[in-house]
Amino acid sequence: MVTNHYAVLAEQIRDRAAQIYPEVIALRRDIHLHPELSYQEVRTTALITDYLIGLGITPEPPLLETGVIALIRGTGSSRTGRLVALRADIDALPLQEENQHSFCSLESGKMHACGHDMHTAMLLGAAKILSEIKDQLQGDVLLIFQPAEEIAPGGAKPYLDAGLFKHFNPTVIIGQHCFPNVPTGKVAMCKGSFMAATDELYFTVTGQGGHASAPHKAADPVLAAAHIITAVQHLVSRVVPPHQPAVVSIASIHGGHAPNVIPRQVTMSGTMRTMNEDLRSLLQEKLHQTVTNVAAGLGTQAEVEIRKGYPVLYNDPAVTDKAEIFCGEYLGSENVIQSEPIMTAEDFAYYLQECPGTFWQIGTGTPEDDKGNTLHSPTFNPEERALEIGSGLLAYAAGRLLVI
Ligand code: NI
Repeated sequence: MVTNHYAVLAEQIRDRAAQIYPEVIALRRDIHLHPELSYQEVRTTALITDYLIGLGITPEPPLLETGVIALIRGTGSSRTGRLVALRADIDALPLQEENQHSFCSLESGKMHACGHDMHTAMLLGAAKILSEIKDQLQGDVLLIFQPAEEIAPGGAKPYLDAGLFKHFNPTVIIGQHCFPNVPTGKVAMCKGSFMAATDELYFTVTGQGGHASAPHKAADPVLAAAHIITAVQHLVSRVVPPHQPAVVSIASIHGGHAPNVIPRQVTMSGTMRTMNEDLRSLLQEKLHQTVTNVAAGLGTQAEVEIRKGYPVLYNDPAVTDKAEIFCGEYLGSENVIQSEPIMTAEDFAYYLQECPGTFWQIGTGTPEDDKGNTLHSPTFNPEERALEIGSGLLAYAAGRLLVI
């Protein structure tokens, strides 16, 4: 009886998602044409606001200068007091688009290359469907159109610091992200630690400059930098337990300007990725120790700055189990697959520290996706059919999570 009721609801939402698909494509392309960088999403905020008002949904007073928060109140006959939060990020990247399609970015050097235009359009589509079936919702749905996912400290933390969850007290939160390596039509789930904690590393090595023909009268920061880069490789291979994933990459190095001058200073930067907070703290401490001691051993001094980025994204196991079932009901269980943890980062992690939830990958891949169609690339080109799937799926998951 219950199963049948949800089968009917899924069918109803699938039909509606198919009907509004052209509208959701139009929204996505409009946002894609006009990408805005983190904290500058003024036009996108206005577009979201206008669309929601058109649906009869009045946005809540804004918590930040950009971004939109809105509530859909369910009027079902057996309300449960639950509140499901759905989140989309809305910012673009500083990247020049190189696609050939008809709706390429009109903004030079800016592009929706991480699919946040898709995320925003899918959540607007879900809002339309949910607003039409309010009488079947046994609780409320909070829509979070979050600014600034791409630049730390991100938009999630300021939202939480401003009291977003204290005010609305969500029972569960759901987010989804486009993934070109997941085929369109499928979603991928990962229980537990799914995405990495990220820390930016900045090292400055200072020595004594001098003539390159007389190194004994200098303290060479170039040589020290070379040893430091090699030495930090021992952290992952000799400090991290072999069964735990971690990354330390030195990605830039700058120093010197002439073949016969030993410079005074060399700067380096890089990234560190870990999957749990204990290991993160340990590696931060060991990095300090290794870099300063190696530099000192070679007669130079090193300053180490570690800028903390997003925390580990931890998908609540119980919610992920439920989501797997609901997504299976909506898409067919053969279309819900498992994902390995990945070492990229997401500020959705902050929401999950305060509220159980899950963040899944929505497939935007096509069979010919092998080259260039990766996140953050100038030719990222997600399959738009995911818009129909993603808007319906968010609406269905919200409706289902309000009951159980
Ligand atoms: Ni992204």
